[in-house]
Amino acid sequence: MTVGSAAEAPAPALQLQGVGRRFGALQALRDVTMEVAAGERRAILGPNGAGKTTLFNVVAGDFPPTSGTIRLYGTEVTHLQPHRRTRLGLTRTYQNSQLFMGLSVADSLYLAGRGVRSGRFSMVRPRASDPALVHAREVADIVHLGDVYDRAVGSLSHGQQRQLEVGMALAGRPRLLMLDEPAAGLSRGERTMLTDLLRSLPRDITIILVEHDMDVALAAADRVTVMQEGSIVVEGTPDTIQADQTVQDIYLGHSVGAHHG
Ligand SMILES: Nc1ncnc2c1ncn2[C@@H]1O[C@H](COP(=O)(O)OP(=O)(O)O)[C@@H](O)[C@H]1O
Ligand SMILES: [Mg+2]
Repeated sequence: MTVGSAAEAPAPALQLQGVGRRFGALQALRDVTMEVAAGERRAILGPNGAGKTTLFNVVAGDFPPTSGTIRLYGTEVTHLQPHRRTRLGLTRTYQNSQLFMGLSVADSLYLAGRGVRSGRFSMVRPRASDPALVHAREVADIVHLGDVYDRAVGSLSHGQQRQLEVGMALAGRPRLLMLDEPAAGLSRGERTMLTDLLRSLPRDITIILVEHDMDVALAAADRVTVMQEGSIVVEGTPDTIQADQTVQDIYLGHSVGAHHG
């Protein structure tokens, strides 16, 4: 196993080789082999139950795969603890909101930047010059929440709450950001706004986006990987994916609406 030298191409952000995950008799992931280049924006598209969240869970280390290997930036992490993967630059969001409604936007971003998860914070007032507070303010602007910086999370619109979740993930300065259905439950207008926001994020951050909504996936990504029943069925540029008959068949076979839970 070689560690990248200056002369070699940079290691891919993520490499999966033959990754499988079984839950009893159910094969939730089946021989998944894929590579995401550093700086790429990749969407993982597929109907409910395709294995998208399970893929995130094994990459983040929430549980190990039952077969195959996972590498982050060239380092094998297949059985590494989640916090060690975080130290390699990985941050992921969860499909269900992890927000704490009583906190302000400012406090949420500040605590996320300090690596504190909701509900486990201590009431320490940071000084205005605290670099983590300065960074929280910068992130608020990146996710277009500068105007509601001091508002309580519970008073934000659903779209703004989703923007905040992206901001909280950014606050930890990830190299690889994995977002699980960041546009879920949003209106068409809010989805467009979130897609534009994702496209505008700093280009040095690699983004893997799980999406159930084809419009969001095609608009936000450089490349799209389509999954069904635990397997990758096709991978390509948004144009290729849009024109692909297999993808059309998968999506016509499922009612994929603008709103889902
Ligand atoms: N922890 C788990 N235990 C048992 N079955 C699971 C678990 N997580 C996911 N599954 C099953 O694995 C399959 C894929 O689920 P999931 O990865 O959540 O799909 P998606 O995110 O694409 O909707 C589903 O059939 C789901 O019920
Ligand atoms: Mg899911």
